[in-house]
Amino acid sequence: MLSPIHTKIIEAVTAAPKNALTSGLTRAFERHESSLQHISAAFQRFTSEPWGPEATRTFVHSWSLTNHSAACVSGIANRISLELRANRPDVDRGRLVDALVSLHRISDEDLGVGGGILHADLFYQMAELLCGDDAWMSRRYATPAAAAFRTYKHHMGLKHPDIVHALLSTVVHEVYTHGEVELILPMFREMVARRFAIEERQARRRLAWISVHCGGTERDHFLHAVDATGHYAAAHGIELEDYDLTGIFGEYIEKKAAVMRGLLDIPAQGEPLRASAGDI
Ligand SMILES: [Fe+2]
Ligand SMILES: [Fe+2]
Repeated sequence: MLSPIHTKIIEAVTAAPKNALTSGLTRAFERHESSLQHISAAFQRFTSEPWGPEATRTFVHSWSLTNHSAACVSGIANRISLELRANRPDVDRGRLVDALVSLHRISDEDLGVGGGILHADLFYQMAELLCGDDAWMSRRYATPAAAAFRTYKHHMGLKHPDIVHALLSTVVHEVYTHGEVELILPMFREMVARRFAIEERQARRRLAWISVHCGGTERDHFLHAVDATGHYAAAHGIELEDYDLTGIFGEYIEKKAAVMRGLLDIPAQGEPLRASAGDI
């Protein structure tokens, strides 16, 4: 049986127009199913067992390092704008602009463009409840695998000389995250209701970072990432089939799974926090 996270991902992939990217994603997620099972187990354990303050901070900080993608998406857009400025005659300028427009639609919600709340602030509000304060922000709570994930993601998005790699890592990130948030929302809701003495309205606000990404949000980001990649490839006359798509997507899944597997190994000792947090 597929892990629940895999089922959600495949629903989103199969709803997208079929192309080389969706075939590569289907193969990669099939090939790395056991890693998806480990990721699900990590969230299950975090939300169902008592975790002490230090273990909770480590989980929250390290998990957060795998989440925030706005910097990478903005960095890729920045790099495409440099290509526009270079104005090479062999590159289709119109398709580059299309790629840029699609890419920016991935970060609208993350940045609170048009009136929403910056998603980094929503994460802070959730983390403050789970950890009791904001000591979780210290980098000493980054596990080696989480720090490695951040380095990998920044390398792919901001430093890899081929922007196609940056776009492909965004494609897999957005659809993977769709699966993750859909999986964990009921787990976190149940945990907060059980452990924290706060009203339901406050609980919903504290978990807004997860719930705002559910429904269509991350699925739409995935479709924008697919569009951006298609436009960029067309602008350069690149065939996406020439890339090892299954390998590139698989690398992302494995790096993410390494973080979550490492968090499974943290001894969840100590009394969990039960204090009620202030209202937000
Ligand atoms: Fe976001
Ligand atoms: Fe997203």
